[in-house]
Amino acid sequence: MIYFDNAATSWPKPPGVAEAMTHFIEAVGANPGRAAHRQAVESGRLVYGAREAVCELFHAPDPLRLVWCKNVTEALNLALRGLLRPGDHVVTSSMEHNSMMRPLRALERPERSSGGVEVTVVGCSPQGILGPAAVEAAIRPNTRLVALNHASNVVGTLLPVAEVGALCRERGLLLLVDAAQTGGAYPLDMQASQIDLLGFTGHKSLGGPMGTGGLIVGERVDETQLDPLIRGGTGSRSEHEVQPDFLPDMCESGTPNVVGLAGLEVGVRWVLERGVGAIRAHEVALTQALIEGLRSVPGVTVYGTLDPELQTATVSFNIDRMAPSEAGLRLDDEYGILCRVGLHCAPTAHKTLGTFPTGTVRFGLSAFNTAEEVQAAIAAVHQLAEGVI
Ligand SMILES: Cc1ncc(COP(=O)(O)O)c(C=O)c1O
Repeated sequence: MIYFDNAATSWPKPPGVAEAMTHFIEAVGANPGRAAHRQAVESGRLVYGAREAVCELFHAPDPLRLVWCKNVTEALNLALRGLLRPGDHVVTSSMEHNSMMRPLRALERPERSSGGVEVTVVGCSPQGILGPAAVEAAIRPNTRLVALNHASNVVGTLLPVAEVGALCRERGLLLLVDAAQTGGAYPLDMQASQIDLLGFTGHKSLGGPMGTGGLIVGERVDETQLDPLIRGGTGSRSEHEVQPDFLPDMCESGTPNVVGLAGLEVGVRWVLERGVGAIRAHEVALTQALIEGLRSVPGVTVYGTLDPELQTATVSFNIDRMAPSEAGLRLDDEYGILCRVGLHCAPTAHKTLGTFPTGTVRFGLSAFNTAEEVQAAIAAVHQLAEGVI
């Protein structure tokens, strides 16, 4: 079996991830921050250790400004719904995942009490490239936030977040980045890129389990202006009926997923030990071979930049006269290659690329894939393309 669905969820996980989760269940088990006994203290230590690991990876200065969420979707909802007010304007790109687009579209609706937010979707090129000048041209007097993914989940194209970060500082705007596709796979320094809000998900290249993710809230964001998505027990300030007003507690109501965070810390430590630069170099080499190999197959169209330096290890393609769904089924059934087909929760991105409404076949590679697997997949696509009459 060849697992090429890492852009959705990575597999396998780094060594030690499953063991850390089992250890928590078998030997720790207690609720963090809710009691003073030794098991609760150990549970709290695990949660804090995961905070530190993620902050080290993204070069975020304060682990207590990281809010745990169950995934990046929740993190983006927290940032957008928590900060935006009627009359605010947001600039986003045409390469966004629905995790960004749908909360924004909901916030636009004037009939809702939270609605009345204005949204400009800046068009990207058919390769998914975003020009910072187009972002600048979209800024209005009421613009409050620029919200972008760091890399497309369809074709891997990297967006110029550092340039846009500099622009946002100059114009007094906040920058929200969805790092779902780059966290753990591409170097990302929150401070150097001047990112104010960073959403990440644990189950992709961070090597953690599903159910983990978060939002890092930069120092320029006034947390008193950030409305939590939910309110409830935090283990802190229990004498008050009202929600605490400090991070992270104000946005972390309810018992957290400590079993998941125990695994996430090991995944992120593995990334840190191996080095994001080394992981990136491995993935660039695989991506280069994959793009070149697929492009050499008659009847195959590869989308995106076609330049591994400008994208992540996610490659989208189509075989002439074969629906992506059929290609995906046959790759699984006949070759044991697991991938994802269709629109990948990003219809606007496919409109940008010219692949809407049928979508593409997507190979999402990870640090665990090999050059041999890439060659086997190219050979499989070759056979499928040859067989089309
Ligand atoms: C760019 C991007 N944003 C958001 C998401 C949503 O991630 P999650 O399901 O972990 O919230 C994904 C995952 O597919 C993604 O690739």
